[in-house]
Amino acid sequence: MTRTNPFDAALEGFPNKIGEGAEAYRKFPHMPVGEAVDMGHDENGIPLFDPRIFDSGEFARNPYPYYRILRDHYPVFHDQLHNCYFVTRYEDITDCYFDEIGFNTIPKGSSSGVLGNTQLELSGIEHRRRRNIYGRHLVGAALTKRIHALKELGNELIDEWWDPNNNKGIEINEDTNTVTLELGKAFANEFPISVVAQVLGIPQDAREQFTWWYDAMMSGLGGSDTHHEGLEARQDLEEYVEELVEERRANPTYLHDENGNEICLDIISELCHSEIDGSVMSTEEITSFIALVVGGGGETTRGAILNLWYLLLQHPDQYHQVKENEELWDTAFHEMLRHSTSIGGQPRHNTFDIVMHGVHIPAGSLMHMVDVSANHDERIFKDPEDFNIFRDDLYSGKILRSGHNKEGKCSHMAFGVGPHLCPGAWISHQETVIGSQILDGVFKNVRINTDRMPKDIDGKSLAPIGLKSIRELWLDFDLPS
Ligand code: HEM
Repeated sequence: MTRTNPFDAALEGFPNKIGEGAEAYRKFPHMPVGEAVDMGHDENGIPLFDPRIFDSGEFARNPYPYYRILRDHYPVFHDQLHNCYFVTRYEDITDCYFDEIGFNTIPKGSSSGVLGNTQLELSGIEHRRRRNIYGRHLVGAALTKRIHALKELGNELIDEWWDPNNNKGIEINEDTNTVTLELGKAFANEFPISVVAQVLGIPQDAREQFTWWYDAMMSGLGGSDTHHEGLEARQDLEEYVEELVEERRANPTYLHDENGNEICLDIISELCHSEIDGSVMSTEEITSFIALVVGGGGETTRGAILNLWYLLLQHPDQYHQVKENEELWDTAFHEMLRHSTSIGGQPRHNTFDIVMHGVHIPAGSLMHMVDVSANHDERIFKDPEDFNIFRDDLYSGKILRSGHNKEGKCSHMAFGVGPHLCPGAWISHQETVIGSQILDGVFKNVRINTDRMPKDIDGKSLAPIGLKSIRELWLDFDLPS
C-alpha cells in the first residue's frame, strides 16, 4: 500500500524554497532561547515560515522568536497545514476582540465535550445575560468582603505542611534547618480550586471529590488519551450537581463576611434562581458553567502562582523590591502575565470575507488570536522578552473592563479584552497576590532548588517557561523558627 502524506499538498514547494538541508530544518533542533531555527528565506530575503514548527517541542519551549517572525513578516499567517489563520499583532487582535459581530466565538471545538456548551461559545446579548448573572460575585465588594476567607484557605494549606502525616511531599531537614517542597503540590494546585469551590458554594465535604473531578476534566481536554476519563468525570459532576441544584432551588445558601454577615448568594444558588428569558437555567447549563469556571479558574491561577515565583526568584533584585513594597505584588502579577501567561490565545470565526494585511480570509475561517504574541509585540512593549516589573509601557492598575489602553500604557492580553474579558481576572489577581503574600510570610531565605528543576538544552540553565506554565517549582527555604 502506498501512503501519501495528506499535508504534502499544503506544503507543496516548501522544501524547494528552503533548498539544501531542508530535512535538517524540518527536525527543528532546539535553539538557544530567543533564537529561531533558520527556515530559509525567499528571493527577497524574507524569512520563510514552516507551519510544522507549531507541532514541535522546540516551539512549545521557545515560541517567542517564531511569533516575532510572524508579527514582522506575516502578521496574518495562513497556516494551510492546520487550516487556520494566525493573527499575532497586539492592535489587530484587540480590534478583532472588540468586533463581536465580525469575529464571533462559535463554535469552540475540542474542549466542549468535557466542558459542555459554555458561554465561551456564546456571543452578543445571550452571552451578556449569562455573564450578568454571576459577574458581580467575582468583582469589587463581593471579593473585598471575602478576603478573610481567602486568607483562611491559604493559611490552612500552609498549616498542613507541619503535620508529619501530610501528603504534600514536604521535606524537613532539621540538620540543615531547611525545608524543601514543590510549590504546586504543596500549595498552588489546591489553593485556586478551593477558592473557586467556596465561591461557587460547593459543600466542604465534597471539596476533595470536586478537586478530583477538576483534575480529570482538565487532563481530558483537547482530545487527549485521557479524554474518556474527562468525560466520565463530567458525567459524575453533572449527577452530583443535579442533586445540589434541587437542594439549592429549595434552600439557597449564602457567602459570608468575616463577621458572619451574609454578603450574597453563592454562585450556584444564584444560578438556580436566575431566569434567562423567563426560564431558570437547566441543570446541564449550570454544570457546564461550573465546569467552565473550575476549568478556567484552576489551572490558570495555579500557573500564575508558579510562574510568578519562578520569575521573581530568577530576578532576585526585583523580588527584594517587591518584599520592601507590598504594592509591587500587583505590578509583578501583571508583568508575569504579560511575560508568560498559560493561555496562548483564543479562536474566533470571521463572519464576512475580509482582507487583513493583504491576506484574503474567507468568511467562516478559523482564526487564532495569539494573545501571548500580542504580549510580546515590540510595537507595544519595549524589550518584550525581559521580565521587568518596572517597565513603563505596561498598564498595571485596576483591570480594565472595556479598554486596553490607559494613561498611554497598554494592558497585557492574558485575560483577553472586550466582551469576553476573563470574568475571573479580579479573583485570580486576588488569589495570586494574597496567596503569594502568605507564602512570602513563611518563606525565609527562599531559593529555587536548581538540582530538582528541569533543565534547558545545555543541561545546566533552568528550563524556560515557554508556552503554558511551568509544571513544577522546587524550592528550599530556611525552617521558620
Ligand atoms: C491567571 C488566571 C486566568 C487567566 C490567565 C485567564 C484567562 C482567560 C482568558 C484569556 C479568557 C478569554 C476567553 C475569550 O476571549 O474567549 C477567559 C475567559 C474566562 N475565564 Fe479566565 N483566566 C484566569 C482565571 C480565571 C478564574 C479564576 C475564573 C473563575 C473564577 C475564570 C473564569 C473564566 C470564564 C467563566 C471565562 C469565560 C468568559 C466569557 O466567555 O465571557 N478565569 N479567561
